[in-house]
Amino acid sequence: MSKFIIQGGKRLEGEVKISGSKNAALPIIAATILNSGKTTLYNVPNIQDVQTMFEIVKQIGGKVTKKNNKIIIDTSKVHKYEIPEELMRKMRSSVILAGALIGKYKKAKFSYPGGCDIGSRPIDLHIKGFEKLGIQIREDHGKIECNAEEIIGNQINLDFPSVGATENIILASCLGKGTTILTNAAKEPEIEDLIKYLNKMGAKIKGAGTDRIEIIGVKKLSEISYNIMPDRIEAGTYLVAGAITGGRVKITNANPMHIEPIINKLEEANCKLNVEKNTIEIIAPKRVKAIDIKTMPYPGFPTDLQSIFAALLATGKGTSVITENIFESRYKYVQELNRMGAKIKVECRNAIIKGTKKIQGANVVSTDLRGGAALVIEALVAKGETQINNIDYILRGYEKMEEKLRQLGADIRKEE
Ligand code: UD1
Repeated sequence: MSKFIIQGGKRLEGEVKISGSKNAALPIIAATILNSGKTTLYNVPNIQDVQTMFEIVKQIGGKVTKKNNKIIIDTSKVHKYEIPEELMRKMRSSVILAGALIGKYKKAKFSYPGGCDIGSRPIDLHIKGFEKLGIQIREDHGKIECNAEEIIGNQINLDFPSVGATENIILASCLGKGTTILTNAAKEPEIEDLIKYLNKMGAKIKGAGTDRIEIIGVKKLSEISYNIMPDRIEAGTYLVAGAITGGRVKITNANPMHIEPIINKLEEANCKLNVEKNTIEIIAPKRVKAIDIKTMPYPGFPTDLQSIFAALLATGKGTSVITENIFESRYKYVQELNRMGAKIKVECRNAIIKGTKKIQGANVVSTDLRGGAALVIEALVAKGETQINNIDYILRGYEKMEEKLRQLGADIRKEE
């Protein structure tokens, strides 16, 4: 397992380019199955989760050709409908392949997905949605088998606006018969990006970015090229890296519209933000002001930045409260931040954070992707050296993290 070694105390300054979005790239790669042909994708982040998705596509018969961030995927020879169990365990989003396989071949077999340990992550909403589309589901020895004669459009209301369930229902129904109306759908920008991509292929999907999505089945989808949207969580992470070091950081290749809830919170914490079309510059005070945050489905504050903001507020002036409303145990990283001197107490869904100046370098372990990133953020201001172990979790979601931070002036190196 590799580790990061960070010497804290450097003020970050300069420009950093945001990569393509992980959470948009994953469902779009899955969706390439739907046209049984070639797709060219640009701005694909070179990260472990994306590699895992390529691996699955290859194992079911697809071909993936890579040239930096440009990827050509040929799904004309896909001939297997089972998602390999070990890859399914590695990454929860592999469940998205199920919707694409069902959409194209009317069958799929998979096991319960794995992924970061941030609380129970059931797939009941995905399954209920599939059933509403006329798909028969059989569970046997931990495997789920889906079969349908035909995919037939229906009205589906989600109990909760789940991102994955919304994506899976769209993928399963866009080549079906009739119209599917999905209500209480998730509104995340990554879903908008998936719909934009599918519509460019010839799908007929209305209501992207709203909680009512209408999917009118079409017969065929064509070969296209597509540019993946920028990663709003990575963008938020680098803005916070600037904020925690009292620095001045400009992120480029970003979409400020997607980052509004993050910009608002940073402003509330006394940072100054200059927003332009594709760039955002943050000018931070020496220490941020305490603020309260509640994570919510989009356009609320994203749960994926909860830990990153906790790291920032741990060094702020005063007491902040974070309430996690999406995942029930997304505070595993707190123990590690506290080892560095942070004063965070977790009570059920709340984290009570008493800001302190006394953050020290320590030997810590990343527990999940975003929790691990929070440790990196904290280490940037810690006194002395921090060793972050198990960074493979972090590398699942951040492209060239040490290179980008070094470019901004951080003292960080990776050791295998
Ligand atoms: C996606 C994102 C993840 C983000 C999350 C919430 C990807 C690859 N991952 O994950 O980074 O943190 O959205 O914004 O895009 N739930 C159920 N039953 C289901 C499905 C979900 O109860 O069938 C619950 C989950 O346990 C969780 C909540 O709904 O409490 C949100 O999950 P969901 O929106 O589905 O998240 P993911 O799609 O897994």
